[in-house]
Amino acid sequence: MKQNLAINGGPKTIDKNFNWPVYGESDVDVVAEIVRSGNWGNPDCGDKVEAFEKEFAAFCGTRYALTCVNGSVALRLALIACGVKPGDEVIVPPYTFIATASIVIEANCVPVFVDIDPDTYNISPSQIEKAITKRTKAIIPVHFAGQACDMDAIMAIAKKHNLRVIEDSAHGHGAEYKGKKLGSIGDAGCFSFQSSKNLTSGEGGLVVTNDEALYDMMNSLRNVGRVKGGQWYEHHHAGCNYRITQMQAVLLSSQLKNLKEQTARRHENGTYLNSLLEKIDGIKPLARGVGEAIHCYHIYIFRYDKSKFNDLSKVEFSKMLVAEGVPCFMGYPEPLYKQPLFQEKNFMCYAIPEEVDYTKVYCPVTEKACHEEAVWIFQNTMLGTKEDMEKFAEAILKIQKAYL
Ligand SMILES: Cc1ncc(COP(=O)(O)O)c(C=O)c1O
Repeated sequence: MKQNLAINGGPKTIDKNFNWPVYGESDVDVVAEIVRSGNWGNPDCGDKVEAFEKEFAAFCGTRYALTCVNGSVALRLALIACGVKPGDEVIVPPYTFIATASIVIEANCVPVFVDIDPDTYNISPSQIEKAITKRTKAIIPVHFAGQACDMDAIMAIAKKHNLRVIEDSAHGHGAEYKGKKLGSIGDAGCFSFQSSKNLTSGEGGLVVTNDEALYDMMNSLRNVGRVKGGQWYEHHHAGCNYRITQMQAVLLSSQLKNLKEQTARRHENGTYLNSLLEKIDGIKPLARGVGEAIHCYHIYIFRYDKSKFNDLSKVEFSKMLVAEGVPCFMGYPEPLYKQPLFQEKNFMCYAIPEEVDYTKVYCPVTEKACHEEAVWIFQNTMLGTKEDMEKFAEAILKIQKAYL
């Protein structure tokens, strides 16, 4: 049976290219038009950036949207604009991309890691309260993989302790929690348009907010500290040039037209794949969380139990699944706090207090997700067909049979 596995030269279960990004001639045309016009820059070369910001704000149901060079900077702008001071603590999950925590250090603040919920892989609200101290100023919940965090619980904790909430919605374009778009619930919501994301212009980022003061500060920070009504060479805040180009803006506007339909398809395929995988002994799709109406499956995650696969390690299993033609990955190899940045305290000039010691941090649920459980299937596959989802389940069963 093992010889029949694709990794050993047997036939693949599925042989299909899942393209990403998906684009058409209309995307090419809008970018070509800007290229030919010579009006590439921002804000002095046209209104396409502002137009996209208005469209995205309307899409999310927020008063403001503000573009910037990437999702990391979006988080950074939001956190700094919230008025954090050196040494303030910011609560983050350890099952996320480095930017969620590294921007906290860049703002001279201290990331405090709070474990995730084993059923959703999102930050666990019950653990957040235990981590709050006099220095805590903000929480950055990550809607991991496009699944909404328990925002009612998080907002209630934030209100009780007077904390700001910055939603890391880098995976959450178009997904919803109780009818509200992810990113639109906290003080600010931050998106990434990097090339793997569900809405992309290669690179790019954006913050949505309903708070005018926050918007004005972020707008100044992304535009070298300039302020409304000020002169070109008049700088009020320690900002930088974080602006995007007109080419990116028109591409994003054009791509945004497909996002609703794509999100619905990902949601439907993800839900269907759940129904198939939950029938396989040793495979558990993540629970569908708390009240989210739409999951945008930036990543489709399932939990793997090697004891039902004759102790085949997750790493080996993932490689076999890739060979069978399922675009997947074993996910983060370690919790974020295990990165050399934290273990070796490579904080350079940043003002992190001496007593902060990440070598003692241990979040058991995240450790288990990284080392044993989590397998990621990439979002572009979720734009496939029902038959593709059936093939994914078939590939897992094929490996299981070979190892029983
Ligand atoms: C959860 C999360 N937050 C933030 C970011 C940062 O986005 P960017 O790569 O656009 O800076 C990413 C990027 O992968 C991410 O996955």
